[in-house]
Amino acid sequence: MALSRLNLSPVVPASVLTLPHGPVNLPIFMPVATQATLKGLTPEQLEDTGCRLCLNNTYHLGLKPGQDVLAALGGAHRLQGWKHNILTDSGGFQMVSLLKLANITEEGVRFLSPHDGTPMLLTPEHSIGLQNTIGSDIIMQLDDVLVTTSPDKTRMREAMERSVRWLDRCIAAHTSPETQNLFCIIQGGLDIEMRRECTEKMLKRDTPGIAVGGLSGGEAKDDYCKVVSAITPMLPDLKPRYVMGIGYPEDLVVSVALGADMFDCVWPTRTARFGNAITSKGMLNLRNAKHMHDFGPIEEGCGCTCCRSRDEGGLGVTRSFINHNAAKETVAAHLLSIHNVWYQLELMRQVRQSIVQDRFPAFIRQFFADLYPTPA
Ligand code: GUN
Ligand code: ZN
Repeated sequence: MALSRLNLSPVVPASVLTLPHGPVNLPIFMPVATQATLKGLTPEQLEDTGCRLCLNNTYHLGLKPGQDVLAALGGAHRLQGWKHNILTDSGGFQMVSLLKLANITEEGVRFLSPHDGTPMLLTPEHSIGLQNTIGSDIIMQLDDVLVTTSPDKTRMREAMERSVRWLDRCIAAHTSPETQNLFCIIQGGLDIEMRRECTEKMLKRDTPGIAVGGLSGGEAKDDYCKVVSAITPMLPDLKPRYVMGIGYPEDLVVSVALGADMFDCVWPTRTARFGNAITSKGMLNLRNAKHMHDFGPIEEGCGCTCCRSRDEGGLGVTRSFINHNAAKETVAAHLLSIHNVWYQLELMRQVRQSIVQDRFPAFIRQFFADLYPTPA
């Protein structure tokens, strides 16, 4: 893996990250294909959005199809017919957030199988073994995650220090460091000193990339910004910086300004399934009856395949068509997922272009003026 920066400013990054399945431009938004498929999109449709790096989840793939099938197939790229890059999250976070019944010890994360209730244990070694079989281009360490807003400092310190110890176990267990890039995950909640300490410890392990975890858990935006801006100045220029679980357009734009350059979130595809379109003027719920007679595209000027399909004569995908289908047919969710993923990727392409052309501050001002217009 190699990272080349296109601009000299250490604060606002624009770069090319070269991975085993091709180069990707940073900053980047990575859509989430939890079960080796982006809900509602074929791999071809995902490719059409310009996506060259998407997420899969180790925990879900480990349960189904399971390690044997993945090994026999030769990994997750084959499973989903995806020729571009894949990043896998290590799985612990999903168990803690989804199952709530997970119990964390020094060994690993204990939980009951959602299939048959049998006790299972996900250790750092097991997570890396699964990710090695999955064959993802970027793999994540197993970490001990608490919600940032947790008030228990002692437990927060334990989670932070345990995440460092688990990183060492992940590094020791990793069998293919030349083709799979292991990222550390910085923890420490909203405690800036603990975050700095964790960053120092993680950087000593010299992983190819660095992630910031434990955010996107409902903390105040101000606290979020303080944590990210305390960490990014400590990071080496030539390593990618990934803030996990971030996906609202305004958070992406602000986080890039704070020096981060990789993000992921299920929100764009999840909200599509509720009939919501992301637009430069904010969210649009197409289930609202007022769109029944609205024969425009989802967003005027959008370059996604849905919006481009709508011609001057009003043929193609219109707001009216989505409104008509939104309640009962899955096609509306598919079309909105395509649009929303395109919106997120296009936003990052525009952010990147503005950085390269040295006009990012003006871009941010215009972005927020469009999103929150001052009343006339
Ligand atoms: N996704 C969102 N936040 C986190 C985190 O802190 N750790 C992991 N592993 N995944 C995440
Ligand atoms: Zn569109």
